[in-house]
Amino acid sequence: MAENTKTAKLTIGENTYDLPILSPTVGPDVLDIRKLYGQAGVFTYDPGFTSTAACDSTITYIDGEKGELMHRGYPIDQLAGQSHYLEVCFLLLYGHLPTAAELEDFETTITRHTMIHEQMHMFFRGFRRDAHPMATMVGVVGAMSAFYHDSTDISDPRQREIASHRLIAKMPTIAAMAYKYSIGQPFVYPRNDLDYAANFIHMCFAVPAEQYHVDPILARAMDRIFTLHADHEQNASTSTVRLASSSGANPFACIAAGIACLWGPAHGGANQACLEMLKEIGTVDRIPEYIARAKDKNDPFRLMGFGHRVYKNMDPRATVMKQSADEVLELLGVENNPLLQVAKELEQIALSDPYFVEKKLFPNVDFYSGIILEAMGFPTSMFTPIFALSRTVGWISQWKEQLSDPQMKIGRPRQLYLGENARDYTDIENR
Ligand code: CMC
Repeated sequence: MAENTKTAKLTIGENTYDLPILSPTVGPDVLDIRKLYGQAGVFTYDPGFTSTAACDSTITYIDGEKGELMHRGYPIDQLAGQSHYLEVCFLLLYGHLPTAAELEDFETTITRHTMIHEQMHMFFRGFRRDAHPMATMVGVVGAMSAFYHDSTDISDPRQREIASHRLIAKMPTIAAMAYKYSIGQPFVYPRNDLDYAANFIHMCFAVPAEQYHVDPILARAMDRIFTLHADHEQNASTSTVRLASSSGANPFACIAAGIACLWGPAHGGANQACLEMLKEIGTVDRIPEYIARAKDKNDPFRLMGFGHRVYKNMDPRATVMKQSADEVLELLGVENNPLLQVAKELEQIALSDPYFVEKKLFPNVDFYSGIILEAMGFPTSMFTPIFALSRTVGWISQWKEQLSDPQMKIGRPRQLYLGENARDYTDIENR
């Protein structure tokens, strides 16, 4: 817990209360209101948590004004450029960069857990073919608690660790199977001779009838997409995982809750919604019409892939993703892709339009990721599952941190009640 050396004073009527001020390693100070209700009998009101820290954490830090993101203190551009996804997973889970031996051991452990229980294949077959892969993933990941009983005791640190490894290892297999099922192709088993990203591409695009070679440049781009999505401090899905976990729910149930929350278009679902929007716009000449709609208060339309609760500057993940998009599209020889032309022009127009400038609405990570994934051959319905599999390590690291905090309590927000006051029940014939 952070140092408490300063206090703030809160005056309500004639009474004044001292509120401890907690100072973080970096970032704004935090008013500690934990005892406020007991002392003053008032709640605080902050729907959407715009000014509320719901926990303390040592994992990820975001400076939204500067557009900075760090995991365990390491800037995201360095991790995306010099590290790779499984190393970042280790860093998030254990707090330090691994030694060569630790990394080898971790990679071996993850690789050895990539297969799923064979009986789970039947579970997939219970879904309609046209089920969205996110719907399938919510169900299948939730069902893991019925298959892996030996890692659901959250009071046992070893079981917690095994659950962490299982989730990181099996999520690509589950996402790829959800995809294969939706297109009517046979499931492709994981291959332990491929790295994490290449194995995922293989499970998605290979078929048993022929050899499939994974392009190492595409595998590297995939790995970078995973890395850029690995964690993002207390976002909606991570907070959902923490809230679910605060009741003592098992890890598979908690991660299923996170996947469900991520699916929404304001969060992880934005990558699918963004690409669908670019397709709907279609040509550069139609951009002004959509910009006008985004600015119209009476139109619910928003420019997908723009804006962020925390970033009031360029999303640092978007900067790396944009470079990656250029590299991948050049490699695939699709730099003149009309969607990319629309995206580039839309970005330029929005970045100079006073509405977006004044509201500090910059492109976010979802603006570019869909363009890369589409070029790689993924259908839009797979964009959010790829986000989910990448974010699993972040959810799990935050879950692990929460469970090792001796001060953990069940999450139980209060409310500003605006309903009826007490009134007497009336019999149906008298209403
Ligand atoms: N297009 C047009 N106007 C926007 C947009 C947008 N994309 N985003 C925010 N605004 C306006 C909004 O209408 C509001 O205007 P006013 O102050 O006049 O009422 C102002 O900007 C502030 O918006 P807000 O909704 O109060 O901000 P928020 O912090 O609650 O929402 C957001 C953040 C990400 C949900 C929102 O910007 C949004 O809906 N963006 C589009 C969806 C998207 O790209 N989401 C992915 C986020 S990054 C990846 C992830 O976290 O999963």
